[in-house]
Parts: sequence; structure tokens; C-alpha cells
Amino acid sequence: MEHNNIINHPQFVKEGKQVSFKPETLKKVQDLMKRYPEGRQKSALLPVLHIAQEELGGYLSVDVMDYVASLLGLQPIEVYEVATFYSMFYLDKMGKYVIEVCQTGPCALSGGEQILAHLQEMLEIMPGETTSDGIFTLKTVECLGSCGTAPVLQVNTDFHEKLTPGKVDKLLEDLREYAKHDKSDDSTWVEKFC
Ligand code: FES
Repeated sequence: MEHNNIINHPQFVKEGKQVSFKPETLKKVQDLMKRYPEGRQKSALLPVLHIAQEELGGYLSVDVMDYVASLLGLQPIEVYEVATFYSMFYLDKMGKYVIEVCQTGPCALSGGEQILAHLQEMLEIMPGETTSDGIFTLKTVECLGSCGTAPVLQVNTDFHEKLTPGKVDKLLEDLREYAKHDKSDDSTWVEKFC
């Protein structure tokens, strides 16, 4: 697919449902694709998936992944493989705050398991679940790259380090308070890549 054709390919229709980026987002995607040589558009897949997750409902449904595949001229399976590999991509609707608890060795040995158990108790959910008020989703992830400050968790894009159960309690309290004033419709927040 020619890079310039993407603006003329604004919608993806599957079983009567339309999926499409806003025109300004399509322009961003086009600019991203121009960073790579012709025929290497697959290289833009990660940033485009981040944009899709942010703009198209906070998670990557099959329809959204198929739309991204159509934009980049890829087979849908190529998009599924990437989206299911990386923990930063969500395949289901998430809570407003996604709490990702590192469970890799250094964190686990430094109290990470206790932190996870404490979160499960305080939120009354298990990893992979969302609280009934839609505020929190709890996940476990592999190394977040901050082993020296273990145990670590990430809330959306913010790191919280050297955790204790008391720090977790304060964090949950702050997030609940913040949620009361945050009128954003976004269920997640991800870095903008362009
Ligand atoms: S092991 Fe948890 S941040 Fe590396």
C-alpha cells in the first residue's frame, strides 16, 4: 500500500460495523509510516497500535486490530501476534487505572507477592479483573525495568517504587479521589507516539 493512500482509506467496515480513526489521527499514522522505507510499514505497527488503543475505545478489539492491519497492509494475524505479546496492549475493556504489579524475581523477592496480595484484598479482585465501579484493573506483568527500586508497580504510565502495603493504601486513596474529579471518558491513558 502506498503511504499516501491511507488518507483515502479512512474506514474499515466489518459485519456492518465501522472502525475508523479521526482524520487528524490518520494524518499522524501517515506521518509515522513515512519514517520507514516503502514496504517496511510493519515497522510502524507498535506506535499505531498505541494510537489505536488510545483513540478507539481504550483496548484493541478484533475489529480494531483488523482495521490497523488494513491500514498497514498487513495480515490480521500479524497484528494479533504483536498485540497479544506485549502487556501494554489490552484486549478487553480496562478500568480507568490499570495497576500492573511486577512479579519477576527481584520484585517477587522484595515483597512483590505481598503487594499483589494486598491489592487483591483491598480491591477484592484477582489479576485480570476490574473493580465493579470500573476504576481499577489489576494485572501482573514481567520486569518493568526498575529492579533496583523493587517492589514496583505501574499505574497507566506512572511508576510507583519501593512499595509497602501502606504506600499502596495511600496510592489507592489518591486514585479514588482523583477519579472523582477526572471526567475523561478514556478508560486508559497511553503515551502519544507522534
Ligand atoms: S523485577 Fe520488577 S522491575 Fe525488574
